[in-house]
Amino acid sequence: METKHANGDNLLTCKGVTKSYNGPIVLDNVDFSVRRGEVHALVGENGAGKSTLIKVVTGATGRNSGTITFDGEQMPLEFSRKDAQARGIACIFQELSLIPGMTVAQNIFLAKEPTIGRTRIIDKKKMNHQAQALIDKYKFPLKAEAAIDSISIAQRQLVEILKALSDNAKLMIMDEPTSSLTKTEVEMLFEIIHTLRGEGISVLYISHRMEEVYALSDRVTVLRDGKLVSILNKDMISPAEIIRLMIGHSISEKAVHHRLESKRSPVVLEVENITTVGKFENISFSLHKGEILGLGGLVGSGRTEVVRALYGIDPIDSGSVKFLGTPYVPSVKASIAAGIGFIPEERRLQGILATQTITSNIGIANLDVLAPKGVVSIRKELERAQKGISLLNVKPPDPSHLVGNLSGGNQQKVVLAKWLVRDLKLVFIDEPTVGIDIGAKEEIYEHIRKLSAEGVSILLVSSDLPELTRLADRVLVLRKGRIFHEFKDCVLTGEKILRAASGIIEEAADEA
Ligand SMILES: Nc1ncnc2c1ncn2[C@@H]1O[C@H](COP(=O)(O)OP(=O)(O)OP(=O)(O)O)[C@@H](O)[C@H]1O
Ligand SMILES: [Mg+2]
Repeated sequence: METKHANGDNLLTCKGVTKSYNGPIVLDNVDFSVRRGEVHALVGENGAGKSTLIKVVTGATGRNSGTITFDGEQMPLEFSRKDAQARGIACIFQELSLIPGMTVAQNIFLAKEPTIGRTRIIDKKKMNHQAQALIDKYKFPLKAEAAIDSISIAQRQLVEILKALSDNAKLMIMDEPTSSLTKTEVEMLFEIIHTLRGEGISVLYISHRMEEVYALSDRVTVLRDGKLVSILNKDMISPAEIIRLMIGHSISEKAVHHRLESKRSPVVLEVENITTVGKFENISFSLHKGEILGLGGLVGSGRTEVVRALYGIDPIDSGSVKFLGTPYVPSVKASIAAGIGFIPEERRLQGILATQTITSNIGIANLDVLAPKGVVSIRKELERAQKGISLLNVKPPDPSHLVGNLSGGNQQKVVLAKWLVRDLKLVFIDEPTVGIDIGAKEEIYEHIRKLSAEGVSILLVSSDLPELTRLADRVLVLRKGRIFHEFKDCVLTGEKILRAASGIIEEAADEA
């Protein structure tokens, strides 16, 4: 089966592609191909060059040299995104390109709307009808006439996919499509990918989640430092092997279960019966000095809402909070002053100033310390930036680099860094490692452990089960806005958390 298409059936062939953004080489003589009707995964560490390769192929950025052949035709050295689209190359970028204020149908048929007769008047009825037919064909949970603003991120991705399909895409590229999807949405996307493959459409897929790569791909290409390392066929794909190729050495398989041990240190945060109608109800817990308290649960269970309220972004309707033994009314200002930090989940949206340097991005979050009298100490600002860069191993380690020019994962690290260089007493961290490669993940874990050893209390929201089991001293599982179960002083596995999150009490939880 493998030899049938040996080489002749490539839809996309890149040979010797080299790229530099006016600086170091980020793609070095890369050979890469995607066959017709295959699902191909592109993997590598943060900054390996994955998104850049995609940008070169889709015409979003140029290449310095090398050839690209698509569907039998050579692509010129310079071509636009439109050129690529016209040939059948579609890409669902992380930042979706839909137009708010318009409907699903309007977005799908943008710039190719059906018109009435020979006029230029848009035939709205026909457009809605065609859009709905397309939606129904793929059984997507969408309505043609729904406003883009009223649908979820996952649904917006579906609209992007439909838009591409209506353009007769032959290659569908997805750059980390699942990073903001719920488990059911991910499953739906996988089904869609299978359907596309069934129709002969090739899918090129970037992900840091090895299980996904393993489950989906026919072949995997591994990049490291801008170079092609390996191309694996289906029978050679194993998560351990991919990781070894990605980072150049294997990482020891750390235990996936972990014995929880409660801290006996003083209580830092005491939460009593807090409720915000429609979001969460009767949440009570205490957090000890230096403790890492995990908050598990399904997406939508209320975890993010609880930490946002405790940090003071959203109001709390009733209940009370004590911080270091005294009553505390959360507000962002009070939190900052008290040494409480919050690292939000949507870091790419909420966390960065793309046109600013790493130094100013880290500096802005630390103005109170850097400029207590209103004037920023340049030297201190740079010191902090350097500390952040080395703590989280940001690449390139250059404080004057613009954050918008970093790879996606390195942008995430900068946002983490700007909080983690502060002297905090308590920090709320929401999904610390989404979009972060596996090697850097270990470094972030080390850093979180170090903070806790230094006495910082941490409330950690995570959907990554091994992350919770490996880091937490205790885990609360939220379900439908309530605390459903507490795991403490027991052996914890990801499966136990998942069962609790799904509403099944783990009776055996307390046996050692
Ligand atoms: N616009 C740009 N200007 C300058 N350098 C850039 C630009 N975009 C990316 N780079 C650099 O190119 C390299 C490759 O980045 P790229 O975004 O392709 O990585 P990636 O593999 O997608 O990583 P991630 O997993 O973090 O998304 C990085 O060193 C990055 O700093
Ligand atoms: Mg990327």
